[in-house]
Amino acid sequence: MILSDELFDKFARLVYMRTGIYYDINKKYYVQKRVEKRAEALEMETLNEYYYMLKFSDDSSEFEKLVNDLTVNETYFFRDFPQLRNFAEDVLPVVVREKKNSKKIKVWSAACSTGEEPYTLSIILQEMLDRPEEWDIQIIASDINTEVLEFAKIGLYETRSVKDVPPEYLEKYFTKRNDKYLVNLNIRKPVVFKRINLVCEDETSAVNGCDFIFCRNCLIYFDDESRRNVISSLYEALNPGGFIFLGHSESVGRISSAFKVQRIGGAIVYSKPK
Ligand SMILES: C[S@@+](CC[C@H](N)C(=O)[O-])C[C@H]1O[C@@H](n2cnc3c(N)ncnc32)[C@H](O)[C@@H]1O
Repeated sequence: MILSDELFDKFARLVYMRTGIYYDINKKYYVQKRVEKRAEALEMETLNEYYYMLKFSDDSSEFEKLVNDLTVNETYFFRDFPQLRNFAEDVLPVVVREKKNSKKIKVWSAACSTGEEPYTLSIILQEMLDRPEEWDIQIIASDINTEVLEFAKIGLYETRSVKDVPPEYLEKYFTKRNDKYLVNLNIRKPVVFKRINLVCEDETSAVNGCDFIFCRNCLIYFDDESRRNVISSLYEALNPGGFIFLGHSESVGRISSAFKVQRIGGAIVYSKPK
């Protein structure tokens, strides 16, 4: 099927407007493969026909399927270990001190993909909190991709996903099922999965009162304008004094000046001013 540059622009614009994901022309082949696959599944003759169906249909389910094919969902347990160590050993204790009476902690993994990130955070909280069973721990895990969320809910992973899990945690928090690893129930229990499109304010505003937000390796696919909009929604969802963590190659300071910047445990961290 033919995808002219002009039609590519139309698809790219539609996806950008609805998801924040930005494709320039050098991603034409990547996009073409995926729109072709969907158009063929619907037995359509041209990509133009598929485009108009996507744009004007009242039913969002086909757009959802295309987004499931377009998103990059690469992730694994304990991704960016130094950042997680800084969170666990240096930043978490700051919030734990403040919450010692209410004993409530709320974390949002805002682009959680197949679930490795929220389950990693759940393991860290189990390890770092003194008597974790006395705490009310809530971990909201969200993504735009409905397929990855279904996978995440099951909590069963291949060896490559758990390659960076410290061996003692693998032993303690996972059960081996043939050649796979099932996340134990006490780690899965605090995690609630939801479909949330980060560029949709109606959806992000449903999450609030967070002590920590992790939005790692998602905004790299966005342009500056969508990044700013998402960061401003995440800011709203944080408690005063709550912290935000982006991915290794992303910087909160480059996107927004609303956060308090401080050095904790040798790393620069960003929090919502009190
Ligand atoms: C590379 S994964 C990152 C997973 C994990 N946070 C990590 O760092 O390992 C990026 C995720 O962002 C999600 N994503 C992309 N656009 C999104 C949007 N508009 N709203 C919510 N999630 C989105 C994708 O579906 C994908 O699962």
